[in-house]
Parts: sequence; C-alpha cells; structure tokens
Amino acid sequence: MAVSQRVIKSMENSSWIRKMFETGGILKAKYGDDNVFDFSIGNPNVEPPEDFIIKLSEYASLKKTGMHAYMPNAGYLDVREKIASWVTSTEGIEIHSDNIVMTCGAAGAMNVVLKTILNPGDNIIVSAPYFAEYEAYIGNHGGEVNRVQGGEKFNLSVENIEKAINEKTQGVIINSPNNPSGRVYSEDTIKNLASMLERKSRERGRAIYLLSDEPYKKIVYDGIKVPSVIKNYSHSIIMTSYSKDLSIPGERIGWLAVNPAAEDLHNLLGGIIMCNRILGYVNAPAIMQKVVADLQGRSVDMGFYKTKRDRLCEILGNAGYEFIKPEGTFYLFPKAPGGDDLKAVNALQEERILTVPGRGFGTPGYFRIAYCVSDRVIERSAEGFEKAFRALKNS
Ligand SMILES: Cc1ncc(COP(=O)(O)O)c(C=O)c1O
Repeated sequence: MAVSQRVIKSMENSSWIRKMFETGGILKAKYGDDNVFDFSIGNPNVEPPEDFIIKLSEYASLKKTGMHAYMPNAGYLDVREKIASWVTSTEGIEIHSDNIVMTCGAAGAMNVVLKTILNPGDNIIVSAPYFAEYEAYIGNHGGEVNRVQGGEKFNLSVENIEKAINEKTQGVIINSPNNPSGRVYSEDTIKNLASMLERKSRERGRAIYLLSDEPYKKIVYDGIKVPSVIKNYSHSIIMTSYSKDLSIPGERIGWLAVNPAAEDLHNLLGGIIMCNRILGYVNAPAIMQKVVADLQGRSVDMGFYKTKRDRLCEILGNAGYEFIKPEGTFYLFPKAPGGDDLKAVNALQEERILTVPGRGFGTPGYFRIAYCVSDRVIERSAEGFEKAFRALKNS
C-alpha cells in the first residue's frame, strides 16, 4: 500500500464531517440544493464586514517594496505590536509583541505548538466533547490523545483532568466557547483548572502547558463574557484566528500568544517560531496579517447568529429534542432521541437534514448541528426535525 497505515487509519477515524459533506453532495444531486438542509460544516455563511474588504483593497493596491516578500517567521513586527496591545487591553495581562506569533489560523497555531512541546509518546489531555481534529493534530507530532469526560452540561471536569495527568502529560487543550457544545466555561472553572495545573506542575517539577483554542471567543450571546485563560495560568498559550468572527476561514490567518511567565519561555517561543517555518507554513500570509492587524475588535454582526440560534432552539424544543442553549459559537449539540447518535443522524438524513454524530467529538449519544446556514434552511428543516424525532421515539 502506497499510503501510510497511519494516514489510512486517520482517514477512517476522522471522517465524520467529511462523510456528511459527501452525503450532502449525493443528496443535493438527487433532490436539488434547495431540498437538502446541510448543518454539517462550521463554514460561516455571512460575508466578512465591509471594513475587511476596504482594508484588503487598500493593502492589495499598496505599491511598497517587499510587501509580498518573506518576513520574520513570527510575522511582521508592526502587526504583532498591534495584536499585543489588543491582547493586553482585553485579557488583563501585559503581553509584548515578542510573545505573539502570527499563524495560519488556529489549526496552524495548534500544530506549531504541539510540534514544539511533544516528545514521542507524550500525551495531551482533551476534554469531551472536543473538536475532532485535535486527535489528528496531536498524532501529527507523535503525541498520544489522553481523553477525559467533561462534567455536567458540557462543563469541564477539573477532577477528571487531574486524574488523567501522568508523567507523560505535556499539556491540556481546552476550547471555550466550545465546538460542538456551545458552552462557555466560567471564570471559576478556569481558575480551578489553573490552580490544579499550577499545583500538579509544581509537584512534578515540570510545567503542564494549557493550550486554549479560542477561535469563537467573539461569538457569544446574551452578554456572556468569556473569561481570560492567559491571565489566569502562567504556562498558557492562547491560539485563535479570524476564521469565524470575521468570516474569513479561507484566508488562513490567526495568531498565538504565550504567557510571559510560561516555563522555558525562551525555548518555547524559539521552538514555536522555528516550527512555524519547518512545518511548511514559513509565515502567516503577508497581506492578511496587515489587514487583520487593523481590524482588532471587529467582527461580523453577532445578532445574525443569535437569531438563528433562537429560532433553531424553538424548532428543536417544539419537536421535543433535549439540548442546552448554546452560550456561544454557531453549534447546537442535542441529545440523540433514543440515545443512539448514529441512528439519529441517519433518521435526520432520511429527512434530508445533515448533522454530525457526537462520537466524532468523543461524545456518543449526541449530535451536532452547525447553524451557520441561511434562515430559509432553518425554516424549511423544521418539519424534518419533527418527523425524525417522532420516528426515533417510536422505534
Ligand atoms: C474548535 C476549533 N478550533 C480550531 C479550528 C480551526 O480553525 P482555523 O484554523 O480556521 O482558525 C476550528 C474550525 O472549525 C474549530 O472549530
């Protein structure tokens, strides 16, 4: 076989979203685009804000030597300065431009960090439900996935994380607002996690890094505040992007920030910058760095997603589904009626509704709905959600 066993296995395990996407293609060919309700992918369906287009045009037409050249692997200094001052003003901790690295999205940031910190056989703790691709990212760099069950209502269980820590644990990944549950972890939870990790790091004489994946930080509802992770834990790295909040996932632009008090800071940053290069990213896209640096604090209108969340909650509630109202993101993670997520996803598919089984996120028994779709899709799916619920309850 020409393709590695590892990649074959990874394709088999990580393809739920892709499978749904492919099924969507088949169904659309059969029934027409308008008659398939595709809630499978977290691809924002709102266009980027006007400011983004204006800035992009300005930078694209700027005739300046070196605008399209290689640059320091960490990214442009002026861009990192703007991001550092944004992080300082919003996170409540002084961050210097040296501690910022521009990356190819949050996914690029995570791969760079994991490559930097993992020795073969080290493990990274992930708390279910979690974004499925963490497993692949950890595997990319010779790490093992150390899965733990989350707490009630998709909260973190600090106790479960503590129990899972062993000599080979290099880090913990958290993601809040969370894909797939929409949960935002409270300040108390983050503080409890931080003090447990500080204690465990001290006890074993080596830091456990906290990797906070934050691409949905601005996508929150009802005045919810997402507490700062970087302020609360010294060995922390936050990783984010503009994919979701500026609706530009195809542009592959994001950044990471390392806490200035993190253990082995000099090597950590040096390693991250080198890994950005040798993983083949080299540096984050040049024009995009300049554009996003000028758009700190901007985002698409969150009212857009809130309307969709509220309407979908109403539809699901009326049909009888059990779920927790998302506090952020554009995902809903209801309980599978009858308890079997595969059966639920198949029953929904019968109604031409595409969703993703919870087992793809380490949490069987639930399914994910990505509601970054048009209002029309939501409205027209109502009957199908209801029919599928009845079919599942009666089966
Ligand atoms: C939780 C989470 N983290 C990271 C990513 C990767 O995002 P990007 O690399 O586009 O920033 C995604 C994308 O869907 C995500 O949902």
